[in-house]
Amino acid sequence: MATKQTKKSAPKAKKVAAKTAAKYGYFDDAKKEYVLTTPATPIKWCNYVGTLNFGGIVDTTGGTLVCKGDPALNRITKYIAQMPCSDFKASTIYIRVKNAKGYTVFSPFVVPTLTKMKKWECHVGLSYMRWIAECEGLRTQVTIFVPTGSNTLLQDIQVTNLDKASKEVDIIPVYEFSHFEAEKQLTNADWVPQTMTLKGHWEKDGHVVLEQYAYMKRDFAVNYVTANCKVGSFDGDRRVFLGANEMGSWAAPLSLANKELSNSECDRGDNIAALMIHAGKIAAGKTFRTCTQLGQEQSLKVASKAIAKYRDLKNVDKAFDELAKFWEKYLSTIQVQTPDAAFNSMVNVHNPRQCHTTKNWSRYLSLYQLGYGTSRGIGYRDSSQDLMGVMSHMPEEALELALNLLSVQRPEGNAMHQYAPLALAEDNGNEANAGDSREKKGVLDENGNPAYADWYGDDHLWIVLTIANYLKETGKMDLLKKEVPFYEAGKKRAQREKGTVLEHLKRSLNFTRTHLGKHGLPLLGFADWNDCMNLPLGAESSFNTGLYAKALLEMMDICEALGDTKSVEMYKGWYEDVKKAFNDSAWDGKWWVRWFDKQGNAYGTNKAKYGKIYCNSQSWSVISGIATGDRAVMGMDSLNKLLNTANGVKSSTPGYRGFDPNVGGISTYPPGAKENGGIFLHTNPWVMIAETILGRGDKAFQYYSQINPAAKNTKLDEFESEPYCYPQNILGDEHKQFGMGRNAWLSGTSSWTYQAATQFIIGVRASFKGLIVNPCIPSKWDGFKVTRKFRGATYEIEVKNPKHVCKGVAEMIVDGKKIDADVAPIFTKGVHKVVVTLG
Ligand code: GLC
Repeated sequence: MATKQTKKSAPKAKKVAAKTAAKYGYFDDAKKEYVLTTPATPIKWCNYVGTLNFGGIVDTTGGTLVCKGDPALNRITKYIAQMPCSDFKASTIYIRVKNAKGYTVFSPFVVPTLTKMKKWECHVGLSYMRWIAECEGLRTQVTIFVPTGSNTLLQDIQVTNLDKASKEVDIIPVYEFSHFEAEKQLTNADWVPQTMTLKGHWEKDGHVVLEQYAYMKRDFAVNYVTANCKVGSFDGDRRVFLGANEMGSWAAPLSLANKELSNSECDRGDNIAALMIHAGKIAAGKTFRTCTQLGQEQSLKVASKAIAKYRDLKNVDKAFDELAKFWEKYLSTIQVQTPDAAFNSMVNVHNPRQCHTTKNWSRYLSLYQLGYGTSRGIGYRDSSQDLMGVMSHMPEEALELALNLLSVQRPEGNAMHQYAPLALAEDNGNEANAGDSREKKGVLDENGNPAYADWYGDDHLWIVLTIANYLKETGKMDLLKKEVPFYEAGKKRAQREKGTVLEHLKRSLNFTRTHLGKHGLPLLGFADWNDCMNLPLGAESSFNTGLYAKALLEMMDICEALGDTKSVEMYKGWYEDVKKAFNDSAWDGKWWVRWFDKQGNAYGTNKAKYGKIYCNSQSWSVISGIATGDRAVMGMDSLNKLLNTANGVKSSTPGYRGFDPNVGGISTYPPGAKENGGIFLHTNPWVMIAETILGRGDKAFQYYSQINPAAKNTKLDEFESEPYCYPQNILGDEHKQFGMGRNAWLSGTSSWTYQAATQFIIGVRASFKGLIVNPCIPSKWDGFKVTRKFRGATYEIEVKNPKHVCKGVAEMIVDGKKIDADVAPIFTKGVHKVVVTLG
């Protein structure tokens, strides 16, 4: 631990600020873990356990935020993310050791007792957290995880006596409950506490199950906490547990001075679950092990099966092994061996892992996106993109979510911006919302018409890419015939208009085709990818132009695979139209402009004072192929010159210097932050992809490496964010804190960086005809190897680069036979050798 502290004193700031290399932790690639060696991280760091169905966040000092199905509408633990790192947040464990005078108490998580540890490690693993702490002559190992497919959070606690004499030890795990409607917990201190109920149920053999619910959920959904072993006593009322009318604190609960807790139930108030587990006298060198469960089921009767299962420690071990097997299988879909260790570590473990997280929680639940209220939810554009990051690994799970997204597409073809998963499951007719555009509802223009769109110009287009991705990955074209409802607010799903998946995609494209502006470019809508630029209706967007053109290319591929040449021709016509309109209007001389407002004024032009150049119009015009030749290269070179920094590509420059009501959101940030000239990381992989399309592998790889969080492990006093996942943003060079990362975990950066690395740098991607291998790599690489699972077969791919080029397949040999292109055939089973020579 870096903090020098005694039990009751605060950490000494000087020590915390001291700079040493990799002072916070290290990557253990063999175990696929990041190991923290101090709890005093620059900001809160966390990990995820379980899935959206049941699971949530576990922070590095033992706080847990658990939800079932929906963070806003079915929250279980009361984790207040804004509290300081050192404060109790929803859960902890106290270890109590008997001494001559009474007891010594510490928490193996450090928080909330803030005890000095002899040794402390937090292992951030694949869907589990493990702490190893040494204190008071005891070695405590705590592992927290959710068994695959279960509704239970397990806490496997093992206490080993390292001393020569035996020690009498008690273990007191504690959870604090939240009202299921997370926001109400914070905003209503009358009704909420009156409803919160906790009861203790003793079993004959000394086990106890604590049952908790908000009163109206009694017969439908109850939370419970129990342990595998007998319990001496419990507390369910926070006031009783902390003691002295809460003058006792989480750091030193007064009740821990007594042998037993008070067996307090709680008919109203602040519900907790504290168990007094007497480990008894642990002999020298011996270990006591116990496992707690926190779960939610319809009733305790329904829960009894899971309770019995996980009271058997063999089943706990089995569940942990199964979790490891899940990850082994998941990660084995794509494994690379390149000359770059940081690239390998990110691509083989941490990036696909983060994609699994964004797939589950969209932008709904993190230490930044707090999951309160239904103002957010599962984002249409966000999840459509996230799904592409898991498509090779779990296409059927991805499809399930994609179908939910399609079900909140309007019959007109545009889409609702977000939906709440629980409301969707309840089919309550009101599951989706129009995002921030709701704030401008009712604002009228000079003619008395709505001044702003109630739809986003990009949402409905992303899903075309997602579905195309699924089809290419699986070959299951029948999906296109599946009927899915459109979204008609207020109606039950059965009453809504339906269309096939193909019809949904057609309406997406048709919506944009029929919503073009003055220059023939797609309208911005309320916003495009950049949420912070909300121009009045009539504005056009270069980003939407690129995305629309790319979606048209994908649709042409789909129609070609269906043998529908007429539709291919039609969409090709639409593509050519928009390409021409873009080239006729959006070129500024050295780069592409970003928007036109309804009067036709350009944004992202050299003439502007702020926001002269934007990253996305350069990258997406190349990705979609609407920028070609010199202009494509010139746009990307201007981006490199004006937007690139050592910490990533800025989304625009220069940042606005003060609030400008004409542009709104973007100018609410100081220059260099977020969308206002910050390094909004999500845009960076698009730059990488565009560079690979131009064949510039050295540049693409530079863009990759400069944002690789693993490479920031020795710069964490600057970066501050978790080194094992991408954050959403890094402050740009106009800001004093240039290089500081924020909003870890839930960012589109994850999916797109993974796609950029695997499909464009490594260059292995699914197509209707087979597996394309067409890399674009740093010229200095001699080659690399990849294993890729595709449609039931395993492809062992070796790429050789004898001439040290970046791109260009000179030869492809599959199972000893020369192939005329860069596409390995579809085999459906077996292991196949692919050797590609660049040159
Ligand atoms: C946030 C939003 C995302 C948006 C991005 C850029 O990440 O979740 O939808 O595209 O900001 O504004």
